[in-house]
Amino acid sequence: MRLLEIVEILWKLHPIHYDVLRAIERYLRRYLYVPKDRIIRATNIKSPKIDKVLEYLLRLKLIEIYEGKYTGYSLTYAGLDALALHDLGLTGKITRVGPKLGVGKEADIHVAYLDDEPRIIKLYRVKPSFKQIRKYRDYALTAKNWYELVIKCAKREFYALRKLYKNNVRVPRPITMNRHIILMEYIDGTELIKARLVEPLPIFDAIVDEIVKMLKVGIVHCDLSEYNILVTADGEVCLIDFPQWVSLKHPNASEFLKKDLLQIIRYFHRKYHISLKELIEIASKKLQKAGYKIEVE
Ligand SMILES: Nc1ncnc2c1ncn2[C@@H]1O[C@H](COP(=O)(O)OP(=O)(O)OP(=O)(O)O)[C@@H](O)[C@H]1O
Ligand SMILES: [Mg+2]
Repeated sequence: MRLLEIVEILWKLHPIHYDVLRAIERYLRRYLYVPKDRIIRATNIKSPKIDKVLEYLLRLKLIEIYEGKYTGYSLTYAGLDALALHDLGLTGKITRVGPKLGVGKEADIHVAYLDDEPRIIKLYRVKPSFKQIRKYRDYALTAKNWYELVIKCAKREFYALRKLYKNNVRVPRPITMNRHIILMEYIDGTELIKARLVEPLPIFDAIVDEIVKMLKVGIVHCDLSEYNILVTADGEVCLIDFPQWVSLKHPNASEFLKKDLLQIIRYFHRKYHISLKELIEIASKKLQKAGYKIEVE
């Protein structure tokens, strides 16, 4: 379901609908589908009223039903979105949701507004590839289901953004998070991949500077690329997309750091024909000066 449709749905919900959605949510850590009895006990809404509410939520596709050994209900992504957007609206963090900017592997990105001020909401969605993600992300191993996983991903990215922003690394200002949604500053820039830099070297320089600043905070990005760097009109860079970061203490941190650096070095070499040697030299020098040794060849 499109997010704008979900926003429309918010108008159709009354407090009793939120009560039921929240009751289901509360038990999602324990059940894949929350037994109907549990929902009745948690909300104190009895038949036939509860049936009407559940039917309504099913029709709006905010919940899913399981009819097997027992009857149970789960939230859909739309249901989780509705709860989170409702809270973000209630707490005065956004007043409107705008167009979708992109669909990533793991999240949808939308512009949202607080009155006229654009902001970015990143909504994690990892349900379909849950198994895949478990394979390559250590931290995901402790999540037991999709609900825990999306929230964990959001928390993880939000934590990194907060720490980096506080330490003056150029990342979007994290504003708040709610469940699986991160709300952050909108950066008026272009992805590096789409930018045509007249003077590429100062930008390369600035990117390496940010990587070094991240190291000082103890964070390695781990997915740094021409897609995850924004460049503003006045030549500032901004690093984005942090769910997969690792601590510098991670046993493979230096390997990940090298991969990040090489990705950027190769990109500037390919697109702007700057020699690999020169780029590597610039990067090594900056790292060395900050006390980090890394062999990039
Ligand atoms: N704070 C921001 N300000 C402006 N644009 C942003 C911001 N955050 C993300 N974007 C835009 O949305 C795109 C996707 O964001 P991001 O990389 O965080 O998500 P993703 O789901 O991991 O995407 P992918 O899987 O493609 O890497 C970015 O490439 C960028 O164009
Ligand atoms: Mg990205």
